Amino acid sequence: MFTKTSEQKYAGKLAVLYEGQGDILAFQKLADSLLVPLYQSLDADIPENLFLSWRAGCLKLFDRELLNRKKGGLTVDIEPRNGEQRSWPAPKQGALAQALGRKTRTVIDATAGWGQDSMHIFRMGYEILCIERSPVMAELLLDGFSRLNQQYWMQQLHLQSPPLLIGNAIDLLDNLETRPDCIYLDPMFPLKRKKSALAKKSMMILRDLLGDDQDKEQLFAAALAATRKRVVVKSPDYALPIGGQPNESFQGKLLRYDVYFKG
Ligand SMILES: C[S@@+](CC[C@H](N)C(=O)[O-])C[C@H]1O[C@@H](n2cnc3c(N)ncnc32)[C@H](O)[C@@H]1O
Repeated sequence: MFTKTSEQKYAGKLAVLYEGQGDILAFQKLADSLLVPLYQSLDADIPENLFLSWRAGCLKLFDRELLNRKKGGLTVDIEPRNGEQRSWPAPKQGALAQALGRKTRTVIDATAGWGQDSMHIFRMGYEILCIERSPVMAELLLDGFSRLNQQYWMQQLHLQSPPLLIGNAIDLLDNLETRPDCIYLDPMFPLKRKKSALAKKSMMILRDLLGDDQDKEQLFAAALAATRKRVVVKSPDYALPIGGQPNESFQGKLLRYDVYFKG
């Protein structure tokens, strides 16, 4: 067993797991950069409940249940969502596109997370920049974006995956060289019920790892100050709008996109 003292925010929660697959140096580097322990295998006395590991060429996040499944593990999915057209750019349709606005060309996704909204926005042909403050999610995103760059269609079309800034968007948005037409926010809201059967596993694990985003109102203020035209906030349908009465609202399945125009 290889261990390293973990004194940071992931202490006791997260570790990197090697499992004898590939070059251990990459695993060691990842563990060192996140200041978490590296283990060779999952022994009974290991206290952490979440693990990062590469399986089948993807960096994945596991809880103990997912580790036991052959095809388990959560990764940044680079495939189009169900019902999404596979061409690029895909048609700008649906509640998300309506919220982003017909005249929008450039978007910052300031809460990239698992990158699913970023990927959707990218596939619809918007120019997008991503921001993520969690170093773990940033590692998963970088892995996903590098797999995206290797896709045949991306290379054929001379496309590059979205750039990623790692850090707190509240600070980063204050120092932008170029303002985007739209800033998109999808912070973590408290759950309505303690354990929602409807919450996706990927979001439950993200919540276990990071907790709710307590500074959403500050993030919203920073986004409104930094955008050229609008801020879009995705929120669960039960939550109050974080910026007061929105100018427009578009309903999705169990969620809402609240749109705020720059005054
Ligand atoms: C609910 S998840 C976003 C999910 C994402 N929209 C998707 O499609 O996968 C929220 C993410 O925003 C990030 N986040 C929240 N506030 C942030 C901030 N101020 N700066 C940067 N990232 C932030 C969290 O770390 C978390 O990964």
